[in-house]
Amino acid sequence: MLKIGIINGPNLNMLGKRDQKIYGNLTLEEMNHKIESFAKKENIELTIKQSNFEGEIIEFTQQFSSQVDGLIINPAAYTHYSYAIADALRDCSIPVIEVHLSNIFSREDFRGKSVSAPACIGQIVGFSYQSYILAIRALQDLLKKEAEEV
Ligand code: DQA
Repeated sequence: MLKIGIINGPNLNMLGKRDQKIYGNLTLEEMNHKIESFAKKENIELTIKQSNFEGEIIEFTQQFSSQVDGLIINPAAYTHYSYAIADALRDCSIPVIEVHLSNIFSREDFRGKSVSAPACIGQIVGFSYQSYILAIRALQDLLKKEAEEV
């Protein structure tokens, strides 16, 4: 069974109360529920974490690196300046996809820069919670191809 980890960064626990025009009206719990039901249908074992703390996000990344086959991360505002998270992702031995609910390129200038995306295999932005589902699909495809090549 394919194992995938998801890490959500700071303030994403406030979804539903944050700017709904940008982030929609789903809470994190409701969003996770939708992502989990997709994973269940696809026979994927999914573990979802959230933290408002940079160090904890790094620890989740390090732990996931030996526990799952692929990682999806929304580093939230850390995306734009955390070299520590970017290094943890770089050191991580599994494929990582960065996701964002909003289109970070159509917002304030500072959001158009991701220091963590270069440490990932790719980035998916702007599709709300579907960004996570698209990332799961991408990992499924990638990991299947990798397994076929072995
Ligand atoms: C976000 C975009 C970030 O710029 C912002 O700081 C967030 C959420 C997104 O998913 O759209 O907290 O990562």
